Amino acid sequence: MTRIDPHPDIGPLTFLIGTWRGRGRGVYPTIDSFAYTEEVVIEPLPKPVLRYGQRTAHADTGEPLHAEAGFFRLPDGVPELVIAQPTGIVECHAGVLEGQRLVLQSTVVGLTPSAAGHRVTDVERTIEVVDDVLRYSLAMAAVGQDLQVHLVAELTRV
Ligand code: HEM
Repeated sequence: MTRIDPHPDIGPLTFLIGTWRGRGRGVYPTIDSFAYTEEVVIEPLPKPVLRYGQRTAHADTGEPLHAEAGFFRLPDGVPELVIAQPTGIVECHAGVLEGQRLVLQSTVVGLTPSAAGHRVTDVERTIEVVDDVLRYSLAMAAVGQDLQVHLVAELTRV
């Protein structure tokens, strides 16, 4: 496909662009902890947005786990993220950008009827890139639990 240069208005987020691979750890009071491998692809589009996609697998068994897709936006310099998950969960986020650190808080979490039982009401995502290493953490309020960590991961640009 033709190479696309990032739109100038998305410039402050271009540090995210790349293919990233690494590992993460998942925890939550209601589930067994688990380790996972992950590939993230973030790429420019002709509009002032970045397309985001990720997929994961269980680190021990290779079993496919979570995947998600969405878009990073930067209207008027305010970072936003929209994400859809195959589990029937959608997230809208807004946040702050400090250098190469992005802190996003959900403004809306939507659940399809079949996903309603997850009772996800709040999600916070922090993403930071230092050199060629991307670290993120994700906290959620779900299944009646207070907002707390579900995921921590470290990925390297490939
Ligand atoms: C790297 C991404 C993710 C991975 C690898 C992952 C993996 C898992 C695993 C293995 C479980 C336990 C077994 C299961 O219920 O399937 C789980 C539970 C869960 N995850 Fe995630 N997850 C990810 C991201 C997310 C996100 C983004 C959300 C919501 C915003 C989410 C919400 C939940 C919920 C609600 C549960 C069920 C908790 C319960 O029923 O007690 N997960 N996740």
